[in-house]
Amino acid sequence: MSQPLTIALAKGRILDEILPLLARADIKPTDDLFTSRKLVFSTNDENINLVLIRSADVATYVQYGAADLGVAGKDVLLEHGGEGLYERLDLKIASCKLMTAGIADKAIPKGRIKVATKYPEITRQFFLRQGRQVELIKLYGSMELAPIVGLADLIVDLVDSGNTLKANGLVPLDHIMDISSRLIVNRASLKMKNQAIKALVDKIEQAVED
Ligand code: PRP
Repeated sequence: MSQPLTIALAKGRILDEILPLLARADIKPTDDLFTSRKLVFSTNDENINLVLIRSADVATYVQYGAADLGVAGKDVLLEHGGEGLYERLDLKIASCKLMTAGIADKAIPKGRIKVATKYPEITRQFFLRQGRQVELIKLYGSMELAPIVGLADLIVDLVDSGNTLKANGLVPLDHIMDISSRLIVNRASLKMKNQAIKALVDKIEQAVED
C-alpha cells in the first residue's frame, strides 16, 4: 500500500477558496474544517490527509516534510525563503496585493521612517530598492492600527477590497507585488513519492484550469 500524502492548509481566507478547488480535484474532507476543532482530517481519498495550521506555519511544515504538500500565499513563501520546498503551482486563489499604506493626507516624514508589518523580509527588500532608510516594526495582525496610534508612519500589508484600510482612515500607496496562493511540495517527498505527488499535482492543476 502506498504511503498517504499530507497536504497542509491554512486557516483564514485561503481556506474558503481552496476547499472548492480541492473538491473539483475530487478531494473532499470527511469533516467540516470550519467547525471542527480537529487539526488532522481524512478525506474521501484514503491516500490523502489534510492538516489545518496557521498560514505562516505552512511553509515550515512542508520544509521539514511534516506535510508533503501545502497551500500558502506568495507573501508567506517569500517571507519564509523557500528552503526545502518547491513551488509547483499558482492556484490563482486568494488573490490580493501587497502594498504600503499610510494615513490619508498625512505627509510621510523625510529621513528614516517607521514601517509596521507582518512581512519584515519583503518590506526590508522593498525599501532597500527604494533607497529608503526604515525602522521595521514586526506585528502579527491588525497592522492598520499602527499609524493611527503613532506606532508607525506606514504599514506594509495585504490589500484585497481595500475596505480595512478605508475603515481606518488609511490609503494604499505603493503596490509592492501581486499575491496569490501557491501549491508547494517538500523536496524529499517529491523524490520519494514522485508518482503519487505528480498525479495529485496534475489533478489540482486541472482543477485550477476548470
Ligand atoms: C488581511 C489584511 C488586511 C485585510 C485586507 O487580513 O491583513 O487586514 O485582510 O482585506 P481588505 O482589503 O479586503 O479589507 P486578514 O483578514 O487576512 O487577517 P489577518 O489580520 O489575520 O492577516
